[in-house]
Amino acid sequence: MSQFDLTGKIVVITGSSRGIGKASAFELAEHGAKVVISSRKQDACDAVAAEINAKFGEGSAIAVAANISDKAGLQHLVDETRAAFGRIDVLVCNAASNPYYGPQAGISDEQFRKVLDNNIVSNHWLIAMVAPEMRARQSGSIVIVSSIGGLRGSPIIGAYCISKAADMQLARNLAHEFGPDNVRVNCIAPGLIKTDFARALWEDPARIAEANQRVPLRRIGEPEEIAGAVVFLASAASSFMTGQTIVLDGGVTI
Ligand SMILES: NC(=O)c1ccc[n+]([C@@H]2O[C@H](COP(=O)([O-])OP(=O)(O)OC[C@H]3O[C@@H](n4cnc5c(N)ncnc54)[C@H](OP(=O)(O)O)[C@@H]3O)[C@@H](O)[C@H]2O)c1
Repeated sequence: MSQFDLTGKIVVITGSSRGIGKASAFELAEHGAKVVISSRKQDACDAVAAEINAKFGEGSAIAVAANISDKAGLQHLVDETRAAFGRIDVLVCNAASNPYYGPQAGISDEQFRKVLDNNIVSNHWLIAMVAPEMRARQSGSIVIVSSIGGLRGSPIIGAYCISKAADMQLARNLAHEFGPDNVRVNCIAPGLIKTDFARALWEDPARIAEANQRVPLRRIGEPEEIAGAVVFLASAASSFMTGQTIVLDGGVTI
């Protein structure tokens, strides 16, 4: 049996209708997991779940819409998953928001709170809903998609970077709390990845050429290049790893 095998594991992934979340859902299903697709739009989630079921067999995926800013919506996501599959073995907190670009002094209180709420507090909520069953079973893995923004200063997306640094600290704190019950909590910190999230940058030929020059691998990443790390953290392959962050950035932060 491969250490990466996820046969029978139930995985909830927020923000999985597109981008890194969708690529991760496919890779998790490829390794045998049953996946719960979630984003704000039910129809977009239904379409991804249908694609996964067509490729990996009926019952491989379900779709439950939830806005991460809505606590009741997240509880509904958890409840529907338990109703369909009976349990949650792996939680991937992937969805996030970045509503503001500019100097820190220019961000409104409302925008700042939205970033902190959506990128930290929502992860705290969802983890609090799911962790008790994992701890009771003495088994579980929680993955938070952070960013290399959380490792560096930024004059443009500072609040977002604060939230992503806090995600890494959330993982460290919870790794301490949950470790005795064999529930692991880790982060992934991607560099620039070709998704809608960063479209403004990679669609501009001048900006992307400049950005590529700063990357030792001389290119931005594809969502599929993050998905393998999600499988690693979800599976027994990472069974001795907790509280840490995997950086996948083409070498930018070295
Ligand atoms: N792309 C990059 O360069 C990059 C770099 C570092 C880190 N990241 C991180 O990677 C994660 C995924 O980003 P991505 O690049 O894959 O983005 P993306 O392609 O834009 O996809 C975002 C996903 O999240 C969903 N979503 C957005 N707001 C939501 C909300 N309030 N509640 C629930 N779902 C929501 C979107 O679907 P709906 O619109 O239907 O809700 C979509 O499924 C984020 O945490 C991001 O910070 C990205």
